[in-house]
Amino acid sequence: MTTRLEPSPGDEYRTPAAAVAARIHDGKQHLLLAASGSVATIKLPLIISSFQARSNLSIRVILTKSATHFLAGQSAEQPTVAALASLPNVDAVHLDEDEWDEPWTRDSHILHIELRKWAHLLAIVPMSANLLAKVTGGICDNLLTNVIRAWDVDSSSRKGPTIIVAPAMNSMMWAHPITAKQLAILDKEWAWFEVLPAQVKLLACGDIGLGAMCEWTEIVKVIENRLGFA
Ligand SMILES: Cc1cc2nc3c(=O)[nH]c(=O)nc-3n(C[C@H](O)[C@H](O)[C@H](O)COP(=O)(O)O)c2cc1C
Repeated sequence: MTTRLEPSPGDEYRTPAAAVAARIHDGKQHLLLAASGSVATIKLPLIISSFQARSNLSIRVILTKSATHFLAGQSAEQPTVAALASLPNVDAVHLDEDEWDEPWTRDSHILHIELRKWAHLLAIVPMSANLLAKVTGGICDNLLTNVIRAWDVDSSSRKGPTIIVAPAMNSMMWAHPITAKQLAILDKEWAWFEVLPAQVKLLACGDIGLGAMCEWTEIVKVIENRLGFA
């Protein structure tokens, strides 16, 4: 399923990948906003809505399969994925199935490659413990991890960080020694990543401790700054 506003009137793109490819040089700022399976995914609508006045901004969203469970219209703060796709500046919400929208043939566009070429900035908010482990282990088994693995790390390193991540997990997950090791890879070894530190908070599971996603308003400030709006 592709949850997108495309094709807009006059557009005739065969696949989501072709639609992305056609917009790489549209003169807009391109924010690729991703969420993985953490409760903090419910902040995504607030983050997106805060950019509504930015007329020159195009947002594409990637949700992992787990992330979609948090956006199923089950409460006022948890709209459906379709509702997310209709927020201002959102040109598409991409799910794993979009990679295989149509059987691939020679010369077809490949979605994760086109998204990587399209994006000026990738913000993964929130990043789950699972995603952190996969990314630092080089695993790429869904749309989001394919984009991350196919990132242009050479030119990104020259430009400064082009992937922002905001980890969010239960405090016991956070305290596990593997978390610090994996975060250190992103923070200290891979210059194209910027880690927004987690905070101490009453977590959704009822525990109090370190592991909550950084405030969403702070995430917005960092994105605006990196995109040159602030
Ligand atoms: C209700 C619920 C809340 C969860 N919250 C978190 C969380 O905040 N952080 C986290 O790392 N994992 C959390 N998980 C576990 C992840 O969803 C799970 O590890 C999943 O495999 C992550 O997949 P993804 O990284 O592909 O999105 C939660 C699971 C459930 C069922």
